[in-house]
This record gives sequence, C-alpha cells and structure tokens, in this order.
Amino acid sequence: MKKINVITIDGPSASGKGALARQIASKFSINILDSGVLYRLFAYFDNLAIAHSEIAKKIQQEINFNLKIDRLQILNNEKDITSQLRSEDIAKTASKLSSKKEVRSLLFNIQRSFYTSKGLVADGRDMGTVVFKDAKLKIFLTASPEIRAKRRYIELQNLGQEVNMPALIADIESRDLKDSSRELSPLLPADDATIIDSSDMSLEEVFSFAENLIKKEFI
Ligand code: DC
Repeated sequence: MKKINVITIDGPSASGKGALARQIASKFSINILDSGVLYRLFAYFDNLAIAHSEIAKKIQQEINFNLKIDRLQILNNEKDITSQLRSEDIAKTASKLSSKKEVRSLLFNIQRSFYTSKGLVADGRDMGTVVFKDAKLKIFLTASPEIRAKRRYIELQNLGQEVNMPALIADIESRDLKDSSRELSPLLPADDATIIDSSDMSLEEVFSFAENLIKKEFI
C-alpha cells in the first residue's frame, strides 16, 4: 500500500488526542482533522431536524475550522459553536449516530478531503484502521477512565459547563463500551499503531514521545 503523509491518533474519549493533534499540527505546520467534531456536527444538525443528506453538504459548505493555540474553533457561518459541540448532550447523540453506516459513509469522503500535500494529523476512533489505513504514522493514545474523566471535567469547567464527576465517569465508560463494541469501525488500535498509555504522563511527556516518533518515522 502506498503510504500518505498522515499521522493518525486514535483512542477513547478524553484520552488527550485533540491536544496532541493540535500540538503536532502547530509544531510541524501540517493540517488538522478532529473527526469527532464531524460526528458532533452531525449530531448538532440532526438535533435541528435537518435531513442527513443535507447535513453532509452543510458541513462542507457552512463550517469553518480555525486552529487556535489551545483549541480548534468551529464556526457555523461565522457563529462560534465550539462550546455547544463540546456538550455531553451532543456527545451522546454523536455516539448514537456514529454507529449508523449511512452517517459513517457520508463522513468518510469529508474526512479524506482534509488530506492535502501539506500533510495531515487526524484524530478519532478509526483514523488508522479505516479512514487513513494508508497513513505513514499511527498512534493509539489511551488512559484510564478515571484519568480521562478528570481531564474532561477540567475541559468542561473551562468552557463554563456544569459537570458532575461520577456521572462523567459513568458516561465515559458507557461511551467506551459502545465505541469499542459497535459492529462498524469499532475503536481498536491498528495493527501497525504505536500504543501510548498516558495515564501517568503529562501532556508534555506525551508530546515529546510523539515528537520522537515523528522525527524517526514520519519526516
Ligand atoms: O472524540 P469525540 O468525543 O469528539 O467523538 C464524538 C463521538 O463520535 C464519539 O462517540 C465517537 C464518535 N467518533 C467515531 O465514531 N469515529 C471517529 N473517527 C470520531 C468520533
């Protein structure tokens, strides 16, 4: 298989994939795809009762992705909807929709269209196993459910959202189970992925590990 200049980062929710992808995109000046946001956008438009075939068009025509230092900003016709997309409510609908074949195939081409000759870092659940099987470098980033719930708690608090820790752990565990046991594109490391368990690692340590891998195997 001909390999393309893509770094995939897969893993369960709140494992730090997004933060790592943003750091890599900035440091190595490559494009970024947060595929979870595409599923969240699907959920956002689905909640507004928009037909699925229309949603794919809206995502391509009306949404802009803006890479900020600390986050990926999502604009819907110039309106910032980032924090709405990050809510647990949207996450639940996104998880439900992500098990549908129709939704996954509508999003497949949109995800592939993020790749340009500039290179891409793509994070999600099936970047290395399905969408970018031909990626040059594959990372699977994980951490214990408690650690991930703690990280999500801080993220949601920073967005000004009310959060309850036990409910967050329960949500994360049930979403993990759904994501990894679904029939289509289950959450699994690709055979050729490097697995990083970040439970006892800081963001800097994870980045430095990934940076070494990139220098050895990507550049
Ligand atoms: O990473 P996230 O929490 O933003 O993802 C939202 C939902 O979308 C989550 O339930 C898993 C799903 N998803 C998926 O099925 N495949 C991807 N590549 C990315 C996300």
